[in-house]
Amino acid sequence: MIKVTVACLSLLVPSVFAFPSYQSLAPLSRRELEEFIANNPVADIPNPPGPLANDSIKLVNDPAHPFIAPGPTDLRGPCPGLNTLANHGYLPRSGVARPDQLVTAVMEGYNLGNDFAKFLVYQAHLIDGNPLTNLISIGMKTPLTGPDPPQPASIGGLSLHGTFEGDTSMTRVDAFFGNPAIFNEQRFDEFSAFSTEFGVQGTYDINAAAELRHQRLQESIQTNPQLVFVSPRILSAYSEAVFPTVFFVDGREDNGQLTLSAARDFFDMNIMPVGFHRQPAAVSFPGIMPLVQTIFNKHPFTPGVNNGVNNFTLMPQTPDLFDFCGIYEDIVLRVLKIQYPNPTGQLKDALNKNLGFLFSAVEGQNCTQVFPFGTD
Ligand code: HEM
Ligand SMILES: *[C@@H]1O[C@H](CO)[C@@H](O)[C@H](O)[C@H]1NC(C)=O
Ligand SMILES: *[C@@H]1O[C@H](CO)[C@@H](O)[C@H](O)[C@H]1NC(C)=O
Ligand SMILES: *[C@@H]1O[C@H](CO)[C@@H](O)[C@H](O)[C@H]1NC(C)=O
Repeated sequence: MIKVTVACLSLLVPSVFAFPSYQSLAPLSRRELEEFIANNPVADIPNPPGPLANDSIKLVNDPAHPFIAPGPTDLRGPCPGLNTLANHGYLPRSGVARPDQLVTAVMEGYNLGNDFAKFLVYQAHLIDGNPLTNLISIGMKTPLTGPDPPQPASIGGLSLHGTFEGDTSMTRVDAFFGNPAIFNEQRFDEFSAFSTEFGVQGTYDINAAAELRHQRLQESIQTNPQLVFVSPRILSAYSEAVFPTVFFVDGREDNGQLTLSAARDFFDMNIMPVGFHRQPAAVSFPGIMPLVQTIFNKHPFTPGVNNGVNNFTLMPQTPDLFDFCGIYEDIVLRVLKIQYPNPTGQLKDALNKNLGFLFSAVEGQNCTQVFPFGTD
């Protein structure tokens, strides 16, 4: 079933490789890749860390992690959570990191559960990072992640549209309208207005999240002729809508109500509020998925793509929001395969290692491992 949707989606989803700027960074040809690997063995790939030894609440905006605004060469991207961690030194301030460093940072800084952290990070690394150098940019594509494997792998960083980054973001515009990786004040005004109208005491809470998430989809259906809202974007869009009600709320309150002042800090300034404490215990799939279910139930939708403005074509045959293992398989068998149709040698080994880490994150959800590049 997934094979059928591959063909059908690749016709509808605009190519992520059409940007001239990516061509100019000249990826390695197959021969150059072999030479590169012969002279520079692929990077060691450390295993991801396990769960925190001590996941209790603590001050995370602490003297060891001062806010420092990014310098002119530091990279920041579409994720307010990761931008903030880089600004506080939980991640390299350059914005280029190893995936295991990302897992550590989101566990330490916000108390993401180990499985959930690995799911987000290895999904992102496989589709936006460099498997040869084991580095990923949390912002735009950069030479700092080293020589690229052959095209069509894009190694685009988190800012590259059509991979992890997608449409209907809360505080960013759709890629059709401009740079989707930068904070947009008008969008934040809507975020604030929805919080004022629907949230308890004007906070961004689960009710505000449900209404805003619905409105962002409706608005994109009506205005973005190239809207794509299918797996895996549907899952990231819905989880990112509830993250702020969990991870951006001070762990001492932990009431699911994000004040607009704290929202401004995280989304716009990418700074932790003064005295910010992380969640009082690790939060993983069991903490997030019921919230996703709650906001979905208020305004259910079917995945689809716009074929022209206000012409949303449903794609019910693709994995839906609650087909978690289907989304895992879609990431691995469709999205990743577009970038790596037929990897060999050490490149394939590196991809398989990261695929194993991704699977370790979803094993607890009872998914069955899939092997896009065979099992040898
Ligand atoms: C762990 C690895 C993570 C990765 C790889 C990641 C990646 C991303 C990416 C690529 C986006 C852009 C999606 C889009 O809107 O098009 C995004 C958005 C977002 N992320 Fe993250 N993220 C991670 C963790 C976190 C954490 C821990 C938080 C909260 C503490 C967070 C909060 C958000 C929010 C709220 C958005 C939505 C922004 C908006 O819609 O305006 N993320 N993330
Ligand atoms: C866990 O960390 C907290 C906060 O830093 C600390 O108060 C507590 O003593 C630690 N617990 C253990 C068992 O180390
Ligand atoms: C709407 O999309 C369908 C395909 O899903 C297409 O056949 C039709 O021409 C489109 N209509 C308009 C008005 O663009
Ligand atoms: C996975 O399967 C086990 C055994 O059947 C079950 O107890 C558990 O609830 C399942 N977990 C999920 C997330 O579905």
